[in-house]
Amino acid sequence: MLIGLALAILSGWGSAVWAQDFQSLPPGPGRDETIAWCSGCHSMALVTQQGMSRSRWDDTITWMVENQNMPEPTEEERKVLLDYLASHFGEAKSGDGCIETPWGRRCP
Ligand code: HEC
Repeated sequence: MLIGLALAILSGWGSAVWAQDFQSLPPGPGRDETIAWCSGCHSMALVTQQGMSRSRWDDTITWMVENQNMPEPTEEERKVLLDYLASHFGEAKSGDGCIETPWGRRCP
């Protein structure tokens, strides 16, 4: 069900989602939590420009905790964040898996 929802949202997305602030984040479970956890240190654009698998999002969260001093989320909080991130900013975002970031084009 989540996947269907993600696909529906992905296919309906244009460039609007690339807007800079978090008000344009797609609605869904975990949205508020993700904003709360991830917008404190950097723009949400840094997050929304990514297209990563769930396990790479998981690694990203670990990296935020270990290297950027993000407080460690509990198992449950991490799951909520991952559900949101992986379903809205998953790998399917572009056909070849490549994404545009402020640092250039990144491919898996
Ligand atoms: C405590 C501060 C802090 C919090 C909270 C935080 N980040 Fe970050 N994040 C950073 C910093 C600092 C960088 C830039 C690091 C760099 O490029 O050297 C960064 C960079 C990133 C990047 C870009 C990585 C790349 O490949 O260049 C992503 C994606 C990201 N954060 C995702 C998240 C997500 C998702 C969350 C919420 C779960 C989050 N961040 C919460 C500090 C934070």
